[in-house]
Amino acid sequence: MADFKNILTDVKNGVLYLTVNREDKMNALNFDTLEELKVIFEEVSDNKEIKAVIITGSGEKAFVAGADISEIASLNEVNARKFAENGQEIFSKIENCHKPVIAVNNGYTLGGGCELAMACHMRIATANAKFGQPEVNLGIIPGYGGTQRLTILIGRGKANELMMTGDMIGAEEAKTLGLVNYVLPTKEEALGKAEEIIAKILSKAPLAIGMIIDCVNSVYVPDENGFQTEANSFARCVKSGDYKEGTSAFLEKRQPHFKGE
Ligand code: COA
Repeated sequence: MADFKNILTDVKNGVLYLTVNREDKMNALNFDTLEELKVIFEEVSDNKEIKAVIITGSGEKAFVAGADISEIASLNEVNARKFAENGQEIFSKIENCHKPVIAVNNGYTLGGGCELAMACHMRIATANAKFGQPEVNLGIIPGYGGTQRLTILIGRGKANELMMTGDMIGAEEAKTLGLVNYVLPTKEEALGKAEEIIAKILSKAPLAIGMIIDCVNSVYVPDENGFQTEANSFARCVKSGDYKEGTSAFLEKRQPHFKGE
């Protein structure tokens, strides 16, 4: 994986660690950082060395405190639509990635940062994390899919409240609402929890994991019949060597060795 200006990358034990690295700007997502995310996720799909991704922010104060307001301040109606569509496309790439992607929310997770976290397959927060969609304070609304993903994750009433008031909520409340899966005291422990979950996932059949991601995401696609997607994906699993291996291993009372084929 190449080096990037705004995102640190490190691959260890098949896990790509992405650290948004603009600590003096609360890791705000400027256009360049977003483009870097796009390039990275284009490579993640094809790179056999990478089996899972963890995204976090530099330092202890912020995961990502939103899109970069200094750039947002000069949008016009035409480029604003493109700005939103471009961000939505990049975040969809993350959401549709067939390898598990976990956000470790180590502090402020606001605006585009909350939207980035919600595009990941799961979220694990540190105790000091704060979540919110404060765009309304700037006279705008979430534009990177937040109105959709927040509503699906926490329900319409609470999503409306958070987006209309711009209020921030703490990590424990985010967990109660289903926005995050776990809250751990420190960033190190939150990363450890993400690694533990990834290790478990990586011991399963990779094709099945990719298909779970497709089926779960089909809930968002209005024209798609998710039940049909599930039945089709189920049938595709049965064509795989991993299906033969998984069922044989159970019957032979041994651990399966999946190859992703
Ligand atoms: N875009 C650009 N710069 C940002 C930013 C953002 N979304 N969030 C923080 N920063 C910058 C600040 O301007 C400041 O830069 P400076 O030192 O050059 O002045 C630096 O990061 C530190 O932020 P600061 O506000 O001094 O820290 P704080 O601890 O007092 O407050 C926040 C932290 C996150 C509560 C506050 O920065 C904030 O409200 N940020 C904006 C959040 C937001 O509205 N996001 C949605 C954007 S669409």
